Amino acid sequence: MIFTVAIDGPAAAGKGTIGRAVAARFGFRHLDTGLLYRAVGAKGGDPVAAAEALVPGDLEREGLRTLAAGQAASRVAAIPQVRAALVEFQRRFARAEGGAVLDGRDIGTVICPEAEVKLYVTASAEVRAHRRWLEVGGDEAVVLAEVRERDARDMGRADAPLRAAADAFVMDTSVMSVEDAVARAIAVVERRLEERG
Ligand code: CDP
Ligand code: CDP
Repeated sequence: MIFTVAIDGPAAAGKGTIGRAVAARFGFRHLDTGLLYRAVGAKGGDPVAAAEALVPGDLEREGLRTLAAGQAASRVAAIPQVRAALVEFQRRFARAEGGAVLDGRDIGTVICPEAEVKLYVTASAEVRAHRRWLEVGGDEAVVLAEVRERDARDMGRADAPLRAAADAFVMDTSVMSVEDAVARAIAVVERRLEERG
């Protein structure tokens, strides 16, 4: 069976949390595509060369989850040649036999427009910054400013900007628990699997 669940949305909306839970529930593979851009940003040097030379081991490096790595990722992610170098790997992952969940910014719009399920997960910038702050600590106002800066860069870039696909199921998790968000996402996937028979 080939079945792709595309999860897009802004920073700290809950994409990864939902993606991992959906993958575990249905036995699908899961790819956090943000890690690709984080790994390219963390390598330093020429980002296009770094993207072209990326190997799976690069995604397991320490320090990729920091705020600084997120900022570096969103800068290299605006470079069309960097994005182009990462497309094939993501498409193969999405359409390989067995079912796959990919979370990122452009999965439902660019990487896998044919995805069987598209979720657009969002929440207010304040709520998302608070969630990220609970994970990384520091000054919450700085975390909020960084979230806003990254949102603006990701939504404003010319190549593959962050936006909901026309056929995406939109989930605003601002006042939703993790359990409710996960249950809702699982219900959407279940319905689609039943439709396909
Ligand atoms: O992948 P993304 O950056 O969109 O977000 P995440 O890393 O999955 O989630 C960010 C944080 O928000 C995690 O600590 C979650 O436990 C928390 N959270 C959530 O994901 N969904 C909610 N409805 C409430 C909280
Ligand atoms: O976890 P969080 O949502 O904070 O960030 P992430 O998903 O790890 O993504 C880091 C950065 O990579 C984003 O701010 C985007 O600029 C970029 N990205 C992208 O352009 N396209 C994707 N499919 C995934 C991430």
